[in-house]
Amino acid sequence: MTFSRTAPVAVFDSGVGGIGVLREVKKLLPHEDLLYFGDDAMAPYGERPTDEVRALVLDHAQRLLRLAKALVLACNTATAAAAQELRQHYPTIPIIGMEPAIKPALKVAPHPRILILATPTTLREAKLRTLLRLHATRAVFYKCPAPELVRLVEEGLADSPEADRYLDRILAPFSGTHRPDAVVLGCTHFPLAKDAILRHFGNDMPLFDGAVGTARELARRLAAENLLNPTEREGAVTLTSSAPHMLPLYHKLFYA
Ligand code: DGL
Repeated sequence: MTFSRTAPVAVFDSGVGGIGVLREVKKLLPHEDLLYFGDDAMAPYGERPTDEVRALVLDHAQRLLRLAKALVLACNTATAAAAQELRQHYPTIPIIGMEPAIKPALKVAPHPRILILATPTTLREAKLRTLLRLHATRAVFYKCPAPELVRLVEEGLADSPEADRYLDRILAPFSGTHRPDAVVLGCTHFPLAKDAILRHFGNDMPLFDGAVGTARELARRLAAENLLNPTEREGAVTLTSSAPHMLPLYHKLFYA
């Protein structure tokens, strides 16, 4: 497949979480046309078997790549389940995945305790295990699945008493001598619940997410492959979802 430089970049997530990544992409690459798709009708992905997530991602990617010159998997779960296979299917197209922001979190203390909040799929897949093994001598890693937080974010309840109650319950073990020095938000939905997470840990807890890193990697790949849109005009942003009732929330978060 060959694409013109003026084709859009597709940004995909299971739902609303990838909008945070889309915002970073827009900041960095204002001239690109961006096509966002969230599969809210099938979200959350993170509790589904890996094969099922992979099939969903491949299906949507195939459709998006009929139009787009590059694909951003703005979803840690989709990246863990399907990035490798997608790259094999489309070897000539930039496929950019999410990377949990472990590296910057390592810098907060000499031998930090780092808590990774993510979906069950992300936490069990090889990609994260490999990354943690790589840094095993430099930090203590705690893993905490937070699937219900995805649902709360999808329902517009990211900053709510329900979110507070849920976080207090699942994060209770990470206190006292197990209090982390940093928290890695390994799911693109979770930065939207940042306020509730900080209410639990206190405002001084450093939080890290991969949105800026992913946007930078996209910019680097488009430049390297001579795929940057040469236009001087502002790029168009198209927001789409498999559950159109979500679009007002997309607009609110993107244009906030
Ligand atoms: N936003 C996705 C991620 O980054 C997953 C949410 C879901 O479970 O659907 O992992």
